[in-house]
Amino acid sequence: MHGLTLPAPGGPSQLVLRDDLAVPPLANPAHVRVRIVAAALNHLDLFVADGLPGIPLGPGWVPGADGAGIVDAVGAEVSHVRPGDRVLLNPGYADADDEYTRAGDQPLSPSYKILGEHVPGTLAEFVTCPASCAHPIPPGVSWEEAAAFPLATLTAWRMVHARARVRRGQHVLIQGIGGGVALAALAMCHDIGAVTWVTSGSDEKLARAARLGATHGLNYRTTDVARAIRQATAKRGVDVVIDSVGTATWASSLGALGRAGRLVTCGGTSGPMLETDVRKLFWNQWTLMGSTMGSEDEFAAIVRELGAGRLRPVVDRVFPLAEGRAAYEHLASGRQFGKVVIRVSDGP
Ligand SMILES: NC(=O)c1ccc[n+]([C@@H]2O[C@H](COP(=O)([O-])OP(=O)(O)OC[C@H]3O[C@@H](n4cnc5c(N)ncnc54)[C@H](OP(=O)(O)O)[C@@H]3O)[C@@H](O)[C@H]2O)c1
Repeated sequence: MHGLTLPAPGGPSQLVLRDDLAVPPLANPAHVRVRIVAAALNHLDLFVADGLPGIPLGPGWVPGADGAGIVDAVGAEVSHVRPGDRVLLNPGYADADDEYTRAGDQPLSPSYKILGEHVPGTLAEFVTCPASCAHPIPPGVSWEEAAAFPLATLTAWRMVHARARVRRGQHVLIQGIGGGVALAALAMCHDIGAVTWVTSGSDEKLARAARLGATHGLNYRTTDVARAIRQATAKRGVDVVIDSVGTATWASSLGALGRAGRLVTCGGTSGPMLETDVRKLFWNQWTLMGSTMGSEDEFAAIVRELGAGRLRPVVDRVFPLAEGRAAYEHLASGRQFGKVVIRVSDGP
């Protein structure tokens, strides 16, 4: 089969396109094999390409967490999907019986795995995964949209709904709106009826975010974000911050956060180390929260939202698999607005 492989860490320049990879066997009766039509990149794929501790890269390693395709084969225990079905994949699953999986919170399980990070991923013609990861693609959703949807939307869903519990009329700051998670969070906050403040390093991206419903846009390269929000809200600040940028935005995120504010973070694109004045934390009675991926139930919920037309990913560009390295480099450049998709195979 054809696919993009990552034999060693070192960034996108390490990617190798191959057409001699072995088709993965369907060894588990609860698994499916899917012929991938489209895959999409996340910032995670850049971190994996750079090298993450404990991640088993090697000559045939296939990266990629997001994918959509056609069910090719199903194990003997699988009944909810059949060969020929169009499916999109939940990129995360847990395969242990522990207190977290019994509570239905798979991302907390030490056994939690993400396609392309802990197990072979979606940037190849075929992938195998638990059948529970495969969800029929709702009618009217393109291959590119289906591939662009899962990881970023799932992550934003948990951040906005389960963790920050954003409510109508609340003020929400979303940092770095060109990102996949940030744009998914904007769609959700807009749907809830929140007042959204979004930041970007690009005025053009801010204009595009405004067309998607963002209430206010601030360019973090030219504006003191926290000061601007404080001034515009008569010093009150925002109720919620959605941050995935880390070091570079932490000060402005906290500077904009109002009394009893909630901040939820899922990432550190710009760096992992943060500085917080504990006096501001307790005096303002802030809640600072982490969030990672989402549960199987949450994934089913976002697929229902996709089918209802309330959530649609923003697709920035589509690259052919042969230009997979260029797709990675495009995401790494930060020029993207939304999801970078890679077309892996032909689809009906
Ligand atoms: N824990 C989890 O489960 C989970 C899941 C998904 C993602 N993540 C993490 O979340 C982060 C975002 O992921 P993604 O896939 O959405 O990334 P992405 O699509 O690559 O977007 C990254 C965005 O970050 C913004 N950014 C970069 N530097 C910035 C700065 N100095 N100030 C403000 N914004 C800045 C940029 O926004 P502009 O282009 O608008 O300037 C950029 O578009 C990554 O660190 C990723 O690993 C974690």
